[in-house]
Amino acid sequence: MKMWLKCISCGKEYPPEAKIYTCPSCNSLLDVVLDYAEISNNVSWSLFKARAFKVWRYREFLPIEKDEYIVSLGEGGTPLYRCDKLAKWVGIKDLYVKYEGANPTGSFKDRGMTVGVSKALELKAKVVACASTGNTSASLSAYAAKAGLKCLVLLPAGKVALGKLAQALMHGAEVVAIKGNFDDALKLVIKLSMERDVYLLNSVNPWRLEGQKTLAYEVVDQLGFVPEYVAVPMGNCGNISAIYKGFKELSITGLADATPKMIGVQAEGAAPVVEMLEKGLNTLRPIEKPETLATAIRIGNPINWPKAINAMRESKGIAIKVSDAEIIEAQKAIARLEGLGVEPASAASVAGLKKLVEHDKIPRDAQVVAVCTGHLLKDPEEVVEVSEKFKEIEASMDELEKIVLAKL
Ligand code: F0G
Repeated sequence: MKMWLKCISCGKEYPPEAKIYTCPSCNSLLDVVLDYAEISNNVSWSLFKARAFKVWRYREFLPIEKDEYIVSLGEGGTPLYRCDKLAKWVGIKDLYVKYEGANPTGSFKDRGMTVGVSKALELKAKVVACASTGNTSASLSAYAAKAGLKCLVLLPAGKVALGKLAQALMHGAEVVAIKGNFDDALKLVIKLSMERDVYLLNSVNPWRLEGQKTLAYEVVDQLGFVPEYVAVPMGNCGNISAIYKGFKELSITGLADATPKMIGVQAEGAAPVVEMLEKGLNTLRPIEKPETLATAIRIGNPINWPKAINAMRESKGIAIKVSDAEIIEAQKAIARLEGLGVEPASAASVAGLKKLVEHDKIPRDAQVVAVCTGHLLKDPEEVVEVSEKFKEIEASMDELEKIVLAKL
């Protein structure tokens, strides 16, 4: 399989075995390039549909040389729900939710880790590491366990949801809390990966994003057409870039005839990319102290911003920010109208859509896919905090009738 790394700014190319994360020449982001002419000759929907509905169904697009290196927990193949009640709530005609909470560790990160950790084995790494707002660490620690690799995770102290922390601890990662935010932890782990023999698996690693692009293939596989819009919550901005790349690859190889407009949603207190697009800036102005209850996307200096900006500009998409109150409202609507439990960051995509419709930024007859990135149980403390208080009563029918049944 022909593949190489290419700098998105200066265009320099590097061989796939180079253990690099950014361009050694200009320090910009790297992208994985595949031989699409060759892939076009080898792929078809009928070939894919004959295989299990999982990430590796799309093997020809996934840059791992030999099958023996593949580390998999059966990720991908997540449901795409048609959500008519939620669509009405949002104010659009056709809304689908891609439910990434159904992945093995409960978030979309597993799509990236199956490829990223396989690449780590291919490159003979012994130790893998990441900084994380939670889900990356949960996923990496599980895949590292499966692969037999040592795993180090750096987390912003006191700002990681309990479910995610529980996962990293139980899978046996070395868990370290950093006195600082995610951006501080990422800076530190990048330095560590440059100076020591530690393989970095944050989304700055372009191989990991190759796994995440499979969400796009799945959406077209499930719908049978390309939706007009795809809404994605943005934190470090890897996922929106990867998903857009997936759609582009389908188009390049003749498997689709269009690409969707990408909608990127950030939380108000951590929205530097939205600000950039709104103000037409050429570079990112990092937020020193990002704050939001959606801790997964509590990021002030997203490393993949150039790729995300490109995805939104090139696709004629939109960026929008939403308040914590709007996120909670959307999280409740998704759970109560559709029976889908998602964590706050995931609900940002739906909250963003509602706001865009209200501001007439997307048409009401649009066909839209909202990506809901992580499971409700990731952040049980937030759920208790934002839910109605429940009553404790004596175990008597009288009390039950007086206090509860009258309400039903
Ligand atoms: N949704 C959830 C549930 C996430 O955990 C993240 C990122 C995102 C959305 C945003 O994705 O960073 O690719 O733009 N979580 C990372 C982590 C940062 O460390 O778990 P992104």
